[in-house]
Amino acid sequence: MKRLIMPVAAALILSSIALARSQAPASGQAAPTSGAAAATATLRADRPGPVVNRNVYGHFAEHLGRGIYEGIWVGPSSPIPNTRGIRHDVLAALKQLNVPVLRWPGGCFADEYHWKDGIGPREKRPSMINTHWGGVVEDNSFGTHEFMDLVEQLGTDAYITGNVGSGTPQEMMEWVEYLTSDAVSPMANLRRQNGREQPWRVPYFGLGNEPWGCGGNMRPEYYADEYRKYNTFIKNYDRAKPIYRIAGGANDFNYAWTEVLMERVGRRMNAASLHYYTLPTGNWNRKGSATQFGEDQWFSTLSRTLRMDELITKHAAIMDKADPEKRIGLAIDEWGTWYDVEPGTQPGFLYQQSTMRDALVAALNFHIFHRHASRVVMTNIAQTINVLQAMILTDKEKMLRTPTYWVYEMFKVHQGGTFLPVDLQSPDYAFGAERIPAVSASATRSADGKAVHLSLTNATPGQTIPITVTLAGIAPASASARLLTAPAMQAHNTFAAPDTVKPVPFEGLRLAAGTLTLTLPAKSVVVVELR
Ligand code: AHR
Repeated sequence: MKRLIMPVAAALILSSIALARSQAPASGQAAPTSGAAAATATLRADRPGPVVNRNVYGHFAEHLGRGIYEGIWVGPSSPIPNTRGIRHDVLAALKQLNVPVLRWPGGCFADEYHWKDGIGPREKRPSMINTHWGGVVEDNSFGTHEFMDLVEQLGTDAYITGNVGSGTPQEMMEWVEYLTSDAVSPMANLRRQNGREQPWRVPYFGLGNEPWGCGGNMRPEYYADEYRKYNTFIKNYDRAKPIYRIAGGANDFNYAWTEVLMERVGRRMNAASLHYYTLPTGNWNRKGSATQFGEDQWFSTLSRTLRMDELITKHAAIMDKADPEKRIGLAIDEWGTWYDVEPGTQPGFLYQQSTMRDALVAALNFHIFHRHASRVVMTNIAQTINVLQAMILTDKEKMLRTPTYWVYEMFKVHQGGTFLPVDLQSPDYAFGAERIPAVSASATRSADGKAVHLSLTNATPGQTIPITVTLAGIAPASASARLLTAPAMQAHNTFAAPDTVKPVPFEGLRLAAGTLTLTLPAKSVVVVELR
């Protein structure tokens, strides 16, 4: 099929080509593959918006495939270096991302998980079958104490999802008591017997997962009642820091679910979740390969992932009606790409590679989340290690960082920053009859006020795009940038070549007279720091 860049205006193209020609390719910049239309933008530092909650950069690790077992937990007697069973290499890599929050134990697994099976001496813990994910034996060696140890070693916040689907209010109530009570009470005493004197801090608690599906196939009206009942028994043992309660929200375009939750649960929840996965084909039976794809699926993946904007806009509009003060948040606690599993791997383990395409997916979604910062309080990519759009892949003792990892690492500068609007005029990236903006941009001012970060993407696989950014309300003395790109759309890191896709310094910036100019390489993610 034919691919073309659609010009915004002829005059713009002429001036931008002149600009592009005047710039020699910088080190770390892919060689231009063809002439390009240009983008222009105004970074409105004079019109600050809401703070981008750092939890937008959150994670999700389920008992699924090799996500927990091998990915995080190798056990204290493993030859793989570890602290109390948690592997060092993975922990060190995750620490570089400043992971703000980690969701566990599921996913679908959460609504079959009985937490008391995962406490006490490991050799005495009962096993269960992980019915959702491969039918494998779950020996419960990674349970509450191991997860909270991971949270503390990583320096992150816990987001625990309780079992509404097959559990009871008593089971959930007791788990919260076990985790967070300092009293002399049965569950707090049990925790002490198991070696933990002090309660843990569990700031976020989910009341079930996907209640419309694997969490119980409920109608929204029924779930709303269940939520109200379970919620009653979640006690705030630390009254100064009440637990933030997240309701099982809608699946992608199910707006009726959000309507009912807002009407029947309302302020009893602090946030409602939203799940949306990006499939190249949109067909759950043949989703598409993670690495063997052409431009058709490159384009369809990026185009489908951009629908996140429409989803948030429409769910947020429903929430606005009942909650104009925006006290109830939207927590997109599962999102990312979902491909056919890697050939030869267990289908229930959802193991997939991550390419330059996934890097673009991550960056485009972050730009959308930033734009909706007033409502989006948290997101958790699915999933952190060895599952779906992972940051990290392991093969026994080996580990690699994916292109998605590098986007999280480059974008961590946006965590907790103040949203700054970017008025962008982008050329289109057209493929067949469809088109999406070729360029996406987002900016934040750092919490300490000392820097402004501007992230930019070029979604086209073969076109360099010059961009001129007018800086309004900021007069930086210096500009520096990092670039993530690769020669091929399918480029990815392997255990034999783990550094094929990684960020490099980007030196093709020009800062003069309140204007920043640069040329975005094809299929690239760039983060500029202005000081
Ligand atoms: O992330 C994989 C699965 O996708 C989760 O367990 C479930 O909540 C969703 O359907």
